[in-house]
Amino acid sequence: MIPVEVVDAALPTARIVPLGLIVAELVANAAKHGAGRIRVSLDHTSPGEYALSVSDEGIGLPAGYDPGATSGLGMRVISTLVGQLYGRLNFGANGSGPGAKFTVVFPDAG
Ligand SMILES: Nc1ncnc2c1ncn2[C@@H]1O[C@H](COP(=O)(O)OP(=O)(O)OP(=O)(O)O)[C@@H](O)[C@H]1O
Ligand SMILES: [Mg+2]
Repeated sequence: MIPVEVVDAALPTARIVPLGLIVAELVANAAKHGAGRIRVSLDHTSPGEYALSVSDEGIGLPAGYDPGATSGLGMRVISTLVGQLYGRLNFGANGSGPGAKFTVVFPDAG
């Protein structure tokens, strides 16, 4: 089961499409490389700004992890889509527990 927590958000269709593709890639990665519960959330972090997060409870990311330096296709797709949202990608540990967490922070308008 994948718990999904979202705020009410009114976003232009042009933002929904890349967001959906990002969620698909991050959830695929959490399932493939992570373990345990996968959690997806969308938060309104400040006026005009949203944060989309996908976390898992797997081994987490290695020290010095560089998403741009991997051979996979997923991170390249994600980074292109994050650019389309004028957003930025943060990544690291999933809170204090095990696992990885990826967060895309993006403005509600381009
Ligand atoms: N949730 C995660 N937990 C641990 N490592 C991860 C996680 N997500 C990504 N990674 C690491 O980042 C690398 C790059 O991810 P990326 O999606 O680009 O490639 P991939 O998933 O290996 O291949 P592809 O997406 O092309 O099927 C992964 O190979 C993995 O080492
Ligand atoms: Mg992948």
